[in-house]
Amino acid sequence: MTLSAAEVHKLKLAPPVEGVLPVVLNRWSPRSFSNREVSSADLRRVFEAARWAASAYNEQPWRYLVGIRNSLTYKKIFSTLIGFNQSWAGSAPVLILCVTSTKFSHNGTSNTYAVHDLGAASSYLTLQASALGLSTHQMAGFDQDAARKAFGIPDSYAFGSVIALGYQGEPSALGHEQLLAAEIEQRSRKALSEFVLSAWDTPAELA
Ligand SMILES: Cc1cc2nc3c(=O)[nH]c(=O)nc-3n(C[C@H](O)[C@H](O)[C@H](O)COP(=O)(O)O)c2cc1C
Repeated sequence: MTLSAAEVHKLKLAPPVEGVLPVVLNRWSPRSFSNREVSSADLRRVFEAARWAASAYNEQPWRYLVGIRNSLTYKKIFSTLIGFNQSWAGSAPVLILCVTSTKFSHNGTSNTYAVHDLGAASSYLTLQASALGLSTHQMAGFDQDAARKAFGIPDSYAFGSVIALGYQGEPSALGHEQLLAAEIEQRSRKALSEFVLSAWDTPAELA
């Protein structure tokens, strides 16, 4: 028996932790998206959230190429995805290609935090999407050279992910068993003691 979208969403939520922002606990990455379009007002809101991320030297190195279903931009982004991602991401009404400038604009030197800052902005984007009832699924599985060529992206820009954006869809719409199994799988995370440290290999003591 296949679970409904609402049942899966419930299963995917992180367990409540008092004081942690609900959007953080509610965000997860579906592979099934519904047909429902994303309004341009909501699209604007997710980029407003990205806009206010912190960045080294306030460089704001991120650039987002936004493809709405049926547009040339969407088709180009979709064409760069690896086969596995193409097998599900085409249900998302929006595909976003995330790119970042690796040179500081004030002096042309290398910005080694460019990908870091793009990731931060993209996290804001995903959390804002979650707050709006939207879902996101980021993908590293795409051909960066093909994307560079398709959009004429200069060599001084590096890539982050492609983000599928839309409303969660019914798991049963996923074509094959492997995708369906992943869609209804419990999410897992490392314990805080594995990555919050007071010395190397020593977990920090937290309340
Ligand atoms: C940078 C990045 C690249 C990812 N690449 C892919 C991908 O190519 N295909 C895919 O299906 N999922 C991809 N994912 C999704 C992750 O597998 C997913 O975020 C992770 O398992 C945690 O699940 P959650 O987002 O539901 O918490 C990627 C996520 C990130 C952040």
